[in-house]
Amino acid sequence: MKKIKDYNNFANIKFNVENNTFKLYFKSELVSESKFQINKPDYFFDKKYIGLFRLKTLTKFRNKGFGEILINNIFDYVKNNLKLNHIFLNVYTNNTPALNLYFKTGFSIFGKYDDDDESYYTLVKIL
Ligand SMILES: CC(C)(COP(=O)(O)OP(=O)(O)OC[C@H]1O[C@@H](n2cnc3c(N)ncnc32)[C@H](O)[C@@H]1OP(=O)(O)O)[C@@H](O)C(=O)NCCC(=O)NCCS
Repeated sequence: MKKIKDYNNFANIKFNVENNTFKLYFKSELVSESKFQINKPDYFFDKKYIGLFRLKTLTKFRNKGFGEILINNIFDYVKNNLKLNHIFLNVYTNNTPALNLYFKTGFSIFGKYDDDDESYYTLVKIL
């Protein structure tokens, strides 16, 4: 499977932030997105932090590198625009594609939890 980076097509890629959603477009078409929330220090974590949820790449664009590009853009934006250093997300322990993506982009396991019959990890990325 060809990766988007092999086509040298970065000029066609746009990253946008709207309605608390990070969005990645390829040739003006939405390919990948993630909702986010800015959290104040709380019982969970003692610094201001970003929570990511519902990260997805549209089916026909999967496994081409877009998810990785989205995440790397999110890292830059959170660090340079929001001036925050911690990103958290939850992922089911059986979601291999997502886990591979998150570990590849430098997330690590913060905790493991059991939710009825499913278990999930909370992952953290420190920027
Ligand atoms: C998880 C998801 C976002 C990955 O997005 P993507 O754009 O396809 O990911 P990329 O093409 O950027 O792949 C980056 C890395 O992720 C991993 N990956 C992606 N698809 C994979 C698959 N089908 N199987 C195994 N690993 C996979 C690989 O490590 C890959 O790196 P590599 O190509 O060097 O091996 C996508 O599969 C998706 O939308 N899934 C459904 C929604 C979901 O589960 N979201 C996660 C919620 S926590």
